[in-house]
Amino acid sequence: MGGNPGLKVRQIEVGSMQNFVYVLSDEATREAIAIDSGWEILPITKVVSEQKYRVRYVIATHQHFDHTETIGQLATKLGGELLAHESSPIKCDRRVSDGQEVKMGDHAVRVIHTPGHTEDSICIYDGRDLFTGDTLFVDAWGRTDLPGGSAEKLYHSIHDKIMTLPQETVIYPGHDYGDVPFRTLAEEAKSNPVLLAKSVEEFLRTNS
Ligand SMILES: [Fe+2]
Repeated sequence: MGGNPGLKVRQIEVGSMQNFVYVLSDEATREAIAIDSGWEILPITKVVSEQKYRVRYVIATHQHFDHTETIGQLATKLGGELLAHESSPIKCDRRVSDGQEVKMGDHAVRVIHTPGHTEDSICIYDGRDLFTGDTLFVDAWGRTDLPGGSAEKLYHSIHDKIMTLPQETVIYPGHDYGDVPFRTLAEEAKSNPVLLAKSVEEFLRTNS
C-alpha cells in the first residue's frame, strides 16, 4: 500500500437514515470493491456499469440492517465475493479477520477489526482512506447501547487502532451525520469528543 493515487472513492448517500455506501476503484485496472449496500443497490450498480468496473469484493462493515439489507443481492448482481468479519452473523462468501489484506487491481485494502459499535465491526483501509462504517463519524461515533455494543471496546478500537494511522488519513463514515461528509483524522482529532478523551474512563464519564 502507499499513497494510492490511482484509487478513486465514490461516496453515495442512500435511504432515509443518511447511510453512506462506497465504491472504491483502481482506475487503471477498473477493478473495484463496494463497501456496504444500504437500502438500495441501484446507485451502486449504476456507477459500476457506467464505469465498467469489475467488482472483486463487496464488504460489509458490520451486521446492521441499514448497511446490509440488500448486500447479498448486491454481491450477486455485481459478481463480487461478499466479505464480512469472522464474528459476523451475516451470510457471506468469506470471513475476514483483523490485519487481513484483500487485493484489488494493483492495490490492496486492509481489514481492521474495530469492535465497539458491534462485535463484528470492521474498518477498511487502503493506505490513504479509512472506511469506518458506524465506528467513527465526523464529530461523532457509533452508538454502543445496541446488542454486542461496548463503549470500552469502541474507545480502544478508535484510540489503539484508528489513531495509529497517519493523521492525513481521510475518514469516510457509514452515515452522513457531520457538517461535512468526510474529513481527515487530524481534523477529527481537534473536535471529535471520542478522540479528545484522554482515557476510557474520561470517555465514559463525559459521553455516556
Ligand atoms: Fe450500525
